[in-house]
Amino acid sequence: MENQDSWYQQWFNTQYYHKLYDHRNDKEAELFMENLIAFLNLPKKSKILDLPCGRGRHAIYLNNLGYHLTGADLSINNINYAKRFENNTLHFHTHDMRDHLSEKYDAIFNLFTSFGYFDYEDENIKVLQNFKSGLRYNGILVLDFININKAKTNLIPKEIITKNDIDFYIKRKVENNYLKKEIKFNINEKLYEFEEKIQCLTLSKFKSMSKKVNLKIKHIFGDYNLKPFDEKESDRLIIIFQ
Ligand SMILES: C[S@@+](CC[C@H](N)C(=O)[O-])C[C@H]1O[C@@H](n2cnc3c(N)ncnc32)[C@H](O)[C@@H]1O
Repeated sequence: MENQDSWYQQWFNTQYYHKLYDHRNDKEAELFMENLIAFLNLPKKSKILDLPCGRGRHAIYLNNLGYHLTGADLSINNINYAKRFENNTLHFHTHDMRDHLSEKYDAIFNLFTSFGYFDYEDENIKVLQNFKSGLRYNGILVLDFININKAKTNLIPKEIITKNDIDFYIKRKVENNYLKKEIKFNINEKLYEFEEKIQCLTLSKFKSMSKKVNLKIKHIFGDYNLKPFDEKESDRLIIIFQ
C-alpha cells in the first residue's frame, strides 16, 4: 500500500534528512542562538518553546545557557533522539504545530525553514494563531525562514550532493508558488525518493499574515549574525514578532 503520510511526515522522520543536512549542525545553531539571545536579552529561566525542534540542537544549547526549554516536533524519531538530553528544565514531546498549545511561553522559536509546509493558507494562519495564543503577555515569536527571493534567483535545477557516502540526486524547481526539491538516492541498490515543498512566502506575505493574527513585526534580520535583511542578498528571513 502507498504511504499516505505527507512529505514532511516522511522525509524529516528519516536518518537521511540529517545526513543530507549535516552542515545544519550544533555549531550553526549555537552561533545563531548566541546572537539571538544577546539581541533579545531574555532573562535567564525564561520559558522558551522550540517548535519544531528537530533533534533539539537549538533547545539543548539554550537550556545550557540557563533557559527553561520545551522542544516539540511532529517526528517521533527526532523526539526520541532529543529525549536522551532531557533534564528538569529541558523536555521534548511530539506535537503538530497546527494543534493548540496548552501552555504559555515567554518566547517561541520556529527555526530553520520550519514553516510553509502545508497545502492551504489557512494552515499557516492556524500555526501563527497557535504561536500567538501560546505566548505570555509581551512574549516573542522568532520565525527563521529561507529568503525565498534569493533562493528563487539562485536556484540550481539539478545537482548531486555526496554526503556520508550517499549520492543524493537533487532536482529543484518553483511550481504553483512552492519551492520544490526532489531527493533521490540508492542504498544497497534500493531507491529512496523524497521531496521537500516549501511555500514561496515573502516578507510582504508574512506582513499580511501577521496582521490577520494580530502579531506585530518588531525586527527583521537576514542571517544568523543578525545582519539587516536584504531581499536580494540575504540567505535568511528572520522575523521577530511580539
Ligand atoms: C527543517 S527541520 C528544522 C528542525 C529544527 N528547527 C532544526 O533547526 O534543526 C523541520 C522540522 O519540522 C518538523 N515538522 C514538520 N511538520 C510539522 C508539524 N506539522 N508540526 C510540528 N513539527 C513539524 C519536522 O519533523 C522537522 O523536524
